Amino acid sequence: MKADLNSIQRLVLKAAETARRETADEPEPEKPKKPKWPITCTVGPGLEGAIACESKVGYVNGAKGWLVYRGYNIFDLCAYSTFEEVSFLLLNGRMPKKAELDLFKRKLLSYARMNEIIMHLMGFPIERMSVMGALRLGTNLMRTEFRDLDMASARPAPSEAISADEDSIAMETLPSGSDHATFEFKSRLSRAAAKAQRGFDKPSGLEDSCHLIAGISCIAAAASRIHNGKLPLAPQADLSFAGNLIYMITGRRPSPVEERVMDIALILHADHGMNASTFATMVVASTLADIYFSAGAGIAALSGPLHGGANEEVLRNLREIKTVANVKPWVARKLAQKGKVSGFGHRVYKAYDPRALILGPLAGLLVKEKPELKPLYAVAQELEKTVLNTFGKEKKIFPNVDFYSGLVYSSLGFDDELFTPMFAASRVSGWTARVLEYMENNRIFRPRGLYIGEFNKRYIPLAERT
Ligand code: CMC
Repeated sequence: MKADLNSIQRLVLKAAETARRETADEPEPEKPKKPKWPITCTVGPGLEGAIACESKVGYVNGAKGWLVYRGYNIFDLCAYSTFEEVSFLLLNGRMPKKAELDLFKRKLLSYARMNEIIMHLMGFPIERMSVMGALRLGTNLMRTEFRDLDMASARPAPSEAISADEDSIAMETLPSGSDHATFEFKSRLSRAAAKAQRGFDKPSGLEDSCHLIAGISCIAAAASRIHNGKLPLAPQADLSFAGNLIYMITGRRPSPVEERVMDIALILHADHGMNASTFATMVVASTLADIYFSAGAGIAALSGPLHGGANEEVLRNLREIKTVANVKPWVARKLAQKGKVSGFGHRVYKAYDPRALILGPLAGLLVKEKPELKPLYAVAQELEKTVLNTFGKEKKIFPNVDFYSGLVYSSLGFDDELFTPMFAASRVSGWTARVLEYMENNRIFRPRGLYIGEFNKRYIPLAERT
């Protein structure tokens, strides 16, 4: 079957049916009760089982394999919604009306015109950085330019920079200790005053979130083009968020099918409970660091091969395995080395990851028109079968979102190094939505570490140590 918009929608609805059949019922029909803190829960290593906060943003049921954003299940969103609508939903807690969605799209588009940031970025050795590295740097640059309230509000206008009025403070005294000021600045706004002027309130947080959602995609696309010796491209006004992402990466306007596939991939990655990158983002935000620094932490956490970096690792493995015949010996070797097979397993899912239920068949549909990817897809299918039959079914280890996403992105013509950045381009909606929610009742994250070391050791001077 040749992929068209109808076949893609049918595929998503069929995946929903499979999920329903396998889990027998809807996710938690009853609204969960508001907890009374403190909560008693059993915590394992890696904070397994720990409940860090309450949230209405999204819900993962690992036993049943369900994923829900703000009450809407992921299958319906993939079948009928768009990434812009889903981002609005995550950030605002409800579906937008038509005018609101139009406004939201225009806002994202206006923030996606980031000429100055990209220009600054090009002053750095981007070609020697990974795209994820460029994303971290880029979000920092966005922060400085757009929302660095400490610096922006404290920075005096040039004509006022040196002043001797009563507000002036000595910036530096001479080495002799004389109180003669070598530099004088007009008094800077204190951090508290700056915060009061534009603190982390909902409207400013929402604005910064939109800026970040638009910006991460643009920076990823720009960095990838620079890596390929091409100039970055500005978005086009008549393309959707997903369409522009493909355009800004590849330089060609996507077909409706490509645009829809990208949209679905973005929707699927937008939020996923207290995963490591979301938690990292929230931990930083809970210190009242701004949302740009916080998202930077999320990007760093996402880059690891146990988290978002797994999608790149999967494609590396598929290429290394090369043929269907090599799959079984490769898996046997991996297990003998006590290694993990990338793209499988999950802390939460003990059922088939619903995102993989969509991305797997989607990859299958797309590779039909990409002969060069067919052998890799065949290896992936064999790898799935082998893992499930060797240990997966027994240990409840199934393909996760990262197993087939790389093949989907490859079918769109993306380099491997863009797979994890595409994850970031989407997950930033979840990061920011959860930060905004948490900020309404912020408490700094501060779990304990259990000390199991020694006490009362006598200090031995260096010279006496043998
Ligand atoms: N391959 C082989 N064995 C596995 C795998 C795997 N991919 N995942 C888990 N196991 C085994 C593990 O060896 C352990 O076995 P045993 O009890 O006999 O020692 C058992 O399953 C439990 O594993 P765990 O490592 O304690 O599970 P965890 O919750 O700490 O880790 C995980 C979850 C996702 C880090 C892990 O499954 C993994 O490393 N997977 C491969 C990397 C990957 O695909 N990451 C993407 C995760 S999903 C999307 C995302 O977050 O980005």
